Amino acid sequence: MAETKRVVVAAELRPFIDAVERPDDVQIEWVSASEPLPEGGHVGLLPLLSREVDESVLERLPDLKVVANYAVGYDNIDVEALTARGVAVSNTPDVLTEATADLTWTLILAVTRRVHEAEELARHGDWAWEPTLLLGMGLGGRTLVVLGAGRIGQAVGRRALPFGMDVCYWDRARKPEFEAEVGARRVESLAEALTLADVASIHLQLSPETAGLIGAEQLGWLGPDAVLINTARGGIVDEDALCDALESGRLRGAGLDVYDGEPRIRGCLKRLSSVVLLPHIGSATEETRREMFRLAWTNLMKGIRGQPLVTPIEPTS
Ligand code: DGY
Repeated sequence: MAETKRVVVAAELRPFIDAVERPDDVQIEWVSASEPLPEGGHVGLLPLLSREVDESVLERLPDLKVVANYAVGYDNIDVEALTARGVAVSNTPDVLTEATADLTWTLILAVTRRVHEAEELARHGDWAWEPTLLLGMGLGGRTLVVLGAGRIGQAVGRRALPFGMDVCYWDRARKPEFEAEVGARRVESLAEALTLADVASIHLQLSPETAGLIGAEQLGWLGPDAVLINTARGGIVDEDALCDALESGRLRGAGLDVYDGEPRIRGCLKRLSSVVLLPHIGSATEETRREMFRLAWTNLMKGIRGQPLVTPIEPTS
């Protein structure tokens, strides 16, 4: 009989377990994101993005071979430290690209067409058709700036074409395929990118280089008619500076799906009618969340057997 392989899986993912094959030699311990990890000889961990996973996890799980993160972002994982200790790490790219790009556009349209204010008025207010009721910003001929032209940033850019927008991007690497397909133009500096933007959409990884990247100065580069969208990670934006810019009318609006220190959301953001707030649902379609589970599970199963992962994360240094 093969030796039993014990794995820890986020209990919140139980609804997706029927989407995968469970080998007979694998035993799952379901542990919710708010519970501490167990101590034992578990060889695999499949956590949510809300669990911080660093080297200290090896004190509880010394036999760990793989951490298969249930997210494309992996700022919750100390990849360098874990890989140095022989633990393989993976994420869930590709499968969530289109869902996240769709949700980004949901925010772009909701902010520019003031959808939540309009919905509130229709549902609870006194209204009559008026030529100047809830005027928004048209998108045709405006410029979308994608900050970070990875898979999701490019998918957001592609969707701009039918809206008649020009697309620019800011990324450390040139993306010839994005330029060819969408006519996207690369801009060298963040200052130039934000100065050009009518809509600036963030699609960067959260890292020491990008933490707090969009602060008061950078928000000042956006014009008073511009809109900021963030479906990446909250920590990339200085939210106090964002509140100031919105409150003082130096920015038209913002659409946010992610927050610094989420699930807490700053009171000032909640009070502002120029902001649309969503509870980190970028990839939240039934199909996508199932595919994310399949991919994370496949990585987990490969990792516990010492096989190459499908979507490994390599340490940067
Ligand atoms: C991710 O995968 O990083 C998203 O934030 C959740 O789907």
